[in-house]
This record gives sequence, structure tokens and C-alpha cells, in this order.
Amino acid sequence: MAAGIIGTGSYLPSLTVSNQDLEKIMDTTDEWIKSRTGIERRHIAVEETTVSMAVEAARLALENAGVSPSELDLILVGTISPDHFFPSTACEVQKALAAENATAFDISAACSGFLFGLGIVNAYMAAGMIKTALVIGAETLSKLMDWNDRGTCVLFGDGAGAAVIRRQDEGILSMVQGSDGGRGEVLTCENRKVNNPYRKNPSDLSFTAMNGQEVYKFAVRTVPASVDEALMKAGVRADEIKYFILHQANIRIIEAVAKRLGQPIEKFPTNLQECGNISAGSVPILLDFVNRQGKLQKGDKIVLAGFGAGLTWGAAVLIW
Ligand code: ACO
Repeated sequence: MAAGIIGTGSYLPSLTVSNQDLEKIMDTTDEWIKSRTGIERRHIAVEETTVSMAVEAARLALENAGVSPSELDLILVGTISPDHFFPSTACEVQKALAAENATAFDISAACSGFLFGLGIVNAYMAAGMIKTALVIGAETLSKLMDWNDRGTCVLFGDGAGAAVIRRQDEGILSMVQGSDGGRGEVLTCENRKVNNPYRKNPSDLSFTAMNGQEVYKFAVRTVPASVDEALMKAGVRADEIKYFILHQANIRIIEAVAKRLGQPIEKFPTNLQECGNISAGSVPILLDFVNRQGKLQKGDKIVLAGFGAGLTWGAAVLIW
């Protein structure tokens, strides 16, 4: 038996902010952003929250799969921008869906959150513990940005993507996951610091900070290596893969990965032009775009891959 994706859904906030819109509020240009990243627009939450977007994406994924909420045994949400410390986003999604039979918890693995969720579902299904699961990647990254730091705030967007997974004959063939906490300082966002009456000089809130060049080097080395390893484990050649659905951080990273894997760029769909980087949301939102464009047929082999803060990375080879 295998863990197979049987439905997808996604939600993007209604406000679209173009590079030209950003030019009006900070010292940046469309040309700088587009030439370095490929990003043209992003969706920014105004009324939406991480939970509300996760719920919308989940409803669409359940509808696409033809599965009712009560059939769900497990709900996982990959997020680094939850609405609350607790309860978890996953428990709030469970409540909104009335998925009373599910166990629900969050995963903190930044842009690899969806891939790590898929790994947990794969293991639970292999162990015979569950039959049907919902994995969501949902982020409101705009609230973690310093909007005076043009080097980071232009890169990210908000949104959510979801997939319904069922224990069936075909699905995930192999998974690779990894972490390197030793290099975590290249991409960080501090939470509340110790701030009680006994602490002298309590600190201010801080925001996302990134060493972009180090993240770039990490991505272009780690993503091809993890995809190669997942392909080897699955016994599948790269040329048998229809689509490589990668985390949408930067078009130059995607082009470099395609080159290193020796695969044509047409096999690497993108939506970062429209969405920016949505961390854990990126992979499931792009998967949903590709699925709803009718580009996936039963039996197609695809690769999903993510990388991000932690540092973390994950890749999966699966049959659609
Ligand atoms: N508009 C205009 N100028 C800018 C902007 C901006 N938005 N941001 C930075 N600059 C300026 C800087 O101030 C600097 O100016 P200076 O030379 O006068 O000091 C100049 O542009 C170059 O800045 P760098 O930070 O060195 O820019 P770089 O060429 O490295 O590009 C980028 C930055 C796009 C982030 C690049 O490092 C990159 O692609 N990194 C990969 C990491 C990535 O994509 N991260 C996204 C999220 S991480 C994840 O998802 C895991």
C-alpha cells in the first residue's frame, strides 16, 4: 500500500500587491525584484488569517478529492506564521471543518513544512495507523516581515495550499528529509524574547532576517542532491518525471536546479511570478495550480521538493 494524493486545494488573499505597488511605498524597483527573483506580484492578507486561508484551501481539497471531513484521520498544518501559540492551526482547522475523527497538530519546518507533513502521513500510512489525511501549508508571512527591510519583504507572500492523502495502491514511492540546525542562523525570525519583570532591557520584537547569498548556495546544492537521492531510492530516472514541483523561492534557484538535474526547464512549473515565496504554502499551492490546469494524469510520476529555514529540506517521488 502507498500514500496517494487524491485531491488538492489552495487559497490566496484577495489583495494583490505588484512590484510597482511596492515602488510607491519603499526604495525598490520592479526591475530589481524581477531580475533577481522572478517575482512580479504577491498576495497579502488583510482580513485573512493563517487559519481562515488553511480552512478555505482544505475545503477545496476535500471537495476535489470527494472526501468528507469526518473521513479524516489526521490533519497536519505546516506553518511558521500561526495565528496563535496555541491552540494549533491544525486543531482550529479541525474545528472549522467539524472533522471530529481526526488527530491534528502543526509542523514547524518553514518552507519544508508540507514535505515534512507528507513524510509523517507516509509513515503513519505505512504503519497502518491511518487511512485518510489532510496536509496543509499555510502562511501569513507578511506579519513576520520588517516592511522597512526591502531585502526581505519584497520576496514573500501569503496563502495556503492543501492536499488530501489516502492509503491506496499507488502514491509516494520515496521520500528524503533532512535538517541542519548548525546553519540555521542564515534565515531566522525571532519569537517573543524573554520579557518579564526580572529581565533587564527587554528586547523589541524582531522580524525575518536572511543572508540571501548563503540561502541561495544552500538551495542550489541541497535541492538537486535531495531530488537525486529520492529518485535513486524510488528506482526512477529523472527523465521519467513529468513535473518537478519545487518550493517557489526564486526563479534563479529553480533554473539552477533544472540545470544540475539535466532536465528541461519546461518540466519545472512556477507560480512565484504571481505569489512570491509562501514558505510551507508554496509546494501545495503550485501542486493545486498544476492539478486544476488538468496537467496531471493518473500514473504520471512527479517530484515535490522543498527547502527552507532550519535549515530543512525534503523531496518526494510519487505516482499521481
Ligand atoms: N530593491 C532594490 N535594491 C535592493 C533591494 C530591493 N528590494 N533589496 C536589496 N537591494 C540592494 C541592496 O541594498 C544592495 O545594495 P548595495 O550593493 O548598494 O549594498 C544590493 O541590492 C544587493 O543586495 P544583496 O542582498 O547582495 O542582493 P543579492 O544580489 O544577493 O540578491 C536575493 C538578494 C534575491 C535575496 C538573493 O540573495 C537570492 O536570490 N537569495 C536566495 C535566497 C532566497 O531566495 N530566499 C528567499 C526566501 S528563503 C527560502 O524560501 C528558503
